Amino acid sequence: MADSSPLPAESGLVLIGYRASGKTTVGRHLAEKLGRSFIDLDAEIERRAGRTIADIFEDEGEPAFRSLEERVLREVCREHPGVVVATGGGAILRESNRCELAKFGIIVWLSAPAEVLVRRLRLDAQQRPALTAAGLVDEVPQILKEREPSYRELADVIVDCSARSPEDVAELVVRMLRSPELALKERR
Ligand code: S3P
Repeated sequence: MADSSPLPAESGLVLIGYRASGKTTVGRHLAEKLGRSFIDLDAEIERRAGRTIADIFEDEGEPAFRSLEERVLREVCREHPGVVVATGGGAILRESNRCELAKFGIIVWLSAPAEVLVRRLRLDAQQRPALTAAGLVDEVPQILKEREPSYRELADVIVDCSARSPEDVAELVVRMLRSPELALKERR
């Protein structure tokens, strides 16, 4: 695997995208395929804080969570060069995070339309704090619209993950890393 790796040795790989786009599962597959370690930023935040993200949101509010997220993201990027990192859906909100991630390595955006994400979030057992008071059906399109420009601008590679299994998405990402033409075609 090592000598045919499509990822330069010094480069990490970052997954960005909305909640329920599959970043953690795809990230694990990718790390295995690329022979790299995997770090889930949300899990790392919970581990370092000793609390769940839902509790942090509830006790201290979203701004406090964003500051913690910024600190952990910076530390992970600096302490673990070359790994595969799955970020939380809002990690792209702060400019300092976007700069840190862009320096860290190749950025892959797992995109999906709002209705697909709403469907997945409804089925997902994971406890996620609400981002607005609007309810899922209105919240997802609204927040996705706000975030999409940042996801798109930051991404080196974009994969529509709405009708693909996490394993297929990971396979496609590896093929795109090997073939820039394929990556460009998917982006159109
Ligand atoms: C968030 C997404 C979550 C987590 C937190 C905030 C967001 O991560 O970081 O609840 O703002 O979209 P996932 O995208 O892994 O669910």
